[in-house]
Amino acid sequence: MGRHPGAPATTATGSATATATATATATGTPTASASAASDQTYTLDQVKQHNTRADCWAAIDDGVYNLTDWIAQHPGGAERIIGICGTDATAAFTNQHSGEQRPETQLTRFYIGKLG
Ligand code: HEM
Repeated sequence: MGRHPGAPATTATGSATATATATATATGTPTASASAASDQTYTLDQVKQHNTRADCWAAIDDGVYNLTDWIAQHPGGAERIIGICGTDATAAFTNQHSGEQRPETQLTRFYIGKLG
């Protein structure tokens, strides 16, 4: 079995002096926990994977939006949202809603990240 090659019996003479040494940064770490989700970046190929009414993403301008929960609520009808699932819907959204306050405000609620 193993023998201890050189078990140094040199266990320092008492005094474990290295006590309070690395006890510095315990507090005050201002981590940016809140911004993590929206820092995500997705490619258009990723958006294209989410192309059904049960899983509906769309890219609009530089943003990516998860519209799944909005399909049934859209005042302009579910079909119009379903029609843009998995696509770059910049033109569709802009043509229909450009300059309209409510659609643009609604849209921000579904933001999940940047198009990159
Ligand atoms: C993609 C995200 C979209 C969002 C967040 C959105 C949001 C909205 C909102 C909030 C309204 C109500 C506006 C108001 O009452 O002031 C609305 C109405 C409407 N939307 Fe959208 N929309 C989206 C996409 C689209 C698209 C792609 C189309 C067409 C291709 C469309 C067609 C319409 C129409 C026709 C109405 C009017 C419904 C009516 O007044 O009877 N929407 N939308």
